[in-house]
Amino acid sequence: MLEEIEDRGGPRQALLDIKGLKKHFPVSGGMLGKKQVVRAVDGVDFGVAKGETLGIVGESGCGKSTTARLLMHLIAPDAGSIVYDGTPIGRDLSLRELRRRMQMVFQDSYASLNPRLTIEDSIAFGPKVHGVPDAKARELARDLLGRVGLKPETFANRYPHELSGGQRQRVNIARALALKPRIVILDEAVSALDKSVEAQVLNLLIDLKRDFGLTYIFISHDLNVVRYVSDRVLVMYLGEVVEIGPVDEMWTNPRHPYTAALLASMPTLDPDRRTTQAPLAGDPPNPIDPPPGCRFHTRCPHAEPVCASTRPSLADAAPNHAVACLMHAANSGHSKAGTMLEAS
Ligand SMILES: Nc1ncnc2c1ncn2[C@@H]1O[C@H](COP(=O)(O)OP(=O)(O)OP(=O)(O)O)[C@@H](O)[C@H]1O
Ligand code: SF4
Ligand SMILES: [Mg+2]
Repeated sequence: MLEEIEDRGGPRQALLDIKGLKKHFPVSGGMLGKKQVVRAVDGVDFGVAKGETLGIVGESGCGKSTTARLLMHLIAPDAGSIVYDGTPIGRDLSLRELRRRMQMVFQDSYASLNPRLTIEDSIAFGPKVHGVPDAKARELARDLLGRVGLKPETFANRYPHELSGGQRQRVNIARALALKPRIVILDEAVSALDKSVEAQVLNLLIDLKRDFGLTYIFISHDLNVVRYVSDRVLVMYLGEVVEIGPVDEMWTNPRHPYTAALLASMPTLDPDRRTTQAPLAGDPPNPIDPPPGCRFHTRCPHAEPVCASTRPSLADAAPNHAVACLMHAANSGHSKAGTMLEAS
């Protein structure tokens, strides 16, 4: 059987510590054949605490999936470091070991499963690759099927096409858990499901997290779902982190104008949640040539000339809550700098 993965640094040490993470994708077709890059992830810093669910939100194309793929080492970063429980990945921790500790579940439940393998074989595959004998791996697969709410006697010998989308996503979750990981990255993992099935799978994820002592990174465009599952939320805009903090605080008192606009554009029936903030208009600018200074200045209702020339860095706005906005930076030159600091 796979041995338990040890908790090295104790509960207070971050499970993941990410610094300066960068990924630029080269694209062709620039003027006069000039080389261009999409700044998909452009210098991202954040930590993930043991046992938490960190939600990641932001408009389409802001770099959420690229960040997830970088964490999984499915693609190589151009710059930056990822430290896992005190151990730098690549130097002291092999990719093979990392992939046991960190698993990912994607949106497309069908594409993630091999159509020619039975459900049991699919789940047993990973443990077998890691040296678990066939009989033990099958026993584990059947046990996990039960844990994700699929009766093994009914589902073990079925093929992916014989399952519904919700059932397939349960299989993908079982498959992710088969290597006893500590972190599961869920990239729009429930987004393709009907609302009622989505709620069931979300509750299953919450139960599994408790039972297996997991840590989640939960990526979704659905802010209601993110609020339901997350302890903290990270907001991305054009490849950068603009705000990160506890979910309740972010929802009641978002510090960054982009976070406020995202929340304001959310459909809500709750009169207390209706804000006077202008909802987000238009599309994000092109990530090949992002605006200088604060990347949000072309859409920000609080933008001032300084915002077009000075790039705000992520700084503490409250305990455990950081924001990248010149209104929250002392002496930044923004007229509201002092007032926002006092207010927060
Ligand atoms: N392999 C690639 N080659 C070129 N550009 C890419 C590649 N992968 C992603 N991109 C670009 O990088 C940017 C970030 O993409 P990413 O998929 O990370 O966004 P996302 O936040 O996950 O969006 P969505 O909410 O639509 O899933 C986008 O502009 C995207 O077009
Ligand atoms: S730095 Fe300026 S443009 Fe950027 S979010 Fe803050 S106020 Fe808006
Ligand atoms: Mg994505």
